[in-house]
Amino acid sequence: MAILGVNIDHVATVREARKTNEPDPVWAAALAELGGADGITIHLREDRRHIKERDLRILKESVAVPINLELACADDVLRIACETLPHQATLVPERREEVTTEGGLDVAGSRGKIGDAIRRLKDAGIFVSLFLDPDPKQLDAGIELGANAIELHTGPYAHATLRHHAQQTAATLLTLQHAGQKVRSAGIALDAGHGLTYRNVKPIAAIEGMRELNIGHSIIARAIMVGLEQAVRDMKRLIS
Ligand code: PXP
Repeated sequence: MAILGVNIDHVATVREARKTNEPDPVWAAALAELGGADGITIHLREDRRHIKERDLRILKESVAVPINLELACADDVLRIACETLPHQATLVPERREEVTTEGGLDVAGSRGKIGDAIRRLKDAGIFVSLFLDPDPKQLDAGIELGANAIELHTGPYAHATLRHHAQQTAATLLTLQHAGQKVRSAGIALDAGHGLTYRNVKPIAAIEGMRELNIGHSIIARAIMVGLEQAVRDMKRLIS
């Protein structure tokens, strides 16, 4: 059964809407743990638009489950990761004007920079994952560079399910299943995330060898209605 990493960036987004001190992502992490989260995921963006260094520091001290830090291949965040030592770091592409991460990393097109980042994180003892589109060229490059895990970008699948587009849903799911096979046969961990919801998560959780799903927006959206512990419990039940 896949495990669940709960992304709590959106809690910090609400806090930053007022530039105040609530809601605190540290509280959210505790409640997510109580609901059964297997990991806590946060993205320390270069513009610090939601999660701040303070959050990472306190979460590292207070959270009992592993922390997965998403970050770009940029010197300052790599340095912070190597100093804070989260259990896992996931390298993601980042553009300032984007609303959320759009597309996977272009590992095939920037092997040097990404290879250096992987080495730096691994040398610090951090488990390194790459957020990639389910594109064989990108997967091969990521595998060659020695990532410990690959997180498949489920965005296009999620988008197809939202639009109730059956053909596109089936096609994007098949692409993810093939990509999953490739990652598994390379002997590295298989993760997935982006745009997953209570309605579309089951086929992704059922991909053979799926280790971890990283889910944020849908869980926090439900938490506004039912509370975070309950929202995490509901998602865990669907994944299993
Ligand atoms: N995985 C990665 C690499 C992401 O960047 C994000 C968004 O922060 C997620 C998973 C979670 O996506 P969502 O909030 O759509 O569940």
